[in-house]
Amino acid sequence: MLKNDLILKAARGEKTERVPVWLMRQAGRVLPEYRATRSRAKNFVEFVKNPELACEVTIQPVDILGVDAAIIFSDILVIPEAMGLPYQMIEAKGPWFEKTIKTKADVDALHIANAGDLDYVMQALKLTKQNLNNRVPLIGFAGAPWTIFAYMIEGSGSKTFSKAKQFLYTQPELSHLLLDKITQSTINYLKGQVASGADMIQLFDSWAGVLSPDHFYEFSLKYISKICDAIKPLVPVTVFAKDAHYAVNRISQINCNTIGLDWTINPAEARKAAGGKTLQGNADPCLLYADEKTIVAEASKMLDAFGKQSYIANLGHGLYPDLDKEKVKFFVEFIKSYKA
Ligand code: CP3
Repeated sequence: MLKNDLILKAARGEKTERVPVWLMRQAGRVLPEYRATRSRAKNFVEFVKNPELACEVTIQPVDILGVDAAIIFSDILVIPEAMGLPYQMIEAKGPWFEKTIKTKADVDALHIANAGDLDYVMQALKLTKQNLNNRVPLIGFAGAPWTIFAYMIEGSGSKTFSKAKQFLYTQPELSHLLLDKITQSTINYLKGQVASGADMIQLFDSWAGVLSPDHFYEFSLKYISKICDAIKPLVPVTVFAKDAHYAVNRISQINCNTIGLDWTINPAEARKAAGGKTLQGNADPCLLYADEKTIVAEASKMLDAFGKQSYIANLGHGLYPDLDKEKVKFFVEFIKSYKA
């Protein structure tokens, strides 16, 4: 039995005695402890593949920041790799793929991943679950199919993801074929994560915001919805589609528990659109550069606007590496002290 299951209760819409909080990228460079562990691995990809090191950095923010959940240290790019496209993480630049998807033959050559192909993630989850000792829930995750597709076509990060979008406009059928393969792989992978100890799942559609609304519904939300149908019967699911604020109502109609929000949407408007679903978010990560007085003022506004039930406090995107760990801790402590 979990000692602290506030996040799971909030996700299911059950009453919580206070607002729970965790932070995207809480296992990351903002913690000197993370940087120390990371330096023991040869590179990022090897780090992700080492269950002992992954377990260590997953638990660090629970101990150091006092957050109400752990999120397994891994990356969304393990799926393209398991399907046949290996990646590297280049210092100060980001992901890079030597092979990308250009033709139908490339799509046909991709393997549909199963949980066994990602055994290192399963081992990391099992080890973390054991070492967390039921203190807080363990969050598993995957990239949403569109975001994974975007990296597979583009081969790296991009401001516009115009190559990936070109693919949608010029080869819609092949796009659907690829999205379907990614979706099947992701469902297999997430079922494995749940079997290995993940108590809830978050889908990251980090590049939802580069799509037009019609393309978001056709090439992204449709596949997110399929994943939710497969996973929600097992554990609560959160959908975080960054910069798709116009779509909150449409997202509320799929089989998810929680909608993750970035900071560009007003909490009250999100509440109106969300049809009673739990909401998560949405402080601007840059708020944590401010002084404590400003953090208290802005975080209070956020908490009051969301209301204190069916709500999980978080940032609107991941922590930036140059934020001050003490400010991050202050934010977490302030949220935890706020009376429902
Ligand atoms: O604490 C956590 O949130 C758990 C771990 C986690 C990582 N990546 C570790 C990581 C999670 C949930 C992710 C998801 C992820 N990875 C996303 C979706 C969330 C988002 O940020 O929008 C995306 C788009 C990726 C792909 C990715 N991984 C990029 C573009 C980069 C480079 C940018 C950067 O921050 O350096 C990464 C690297 C990465 N993944 C780091 C971490 C802690 C930093 C790398 C390092 O340690 O050098």
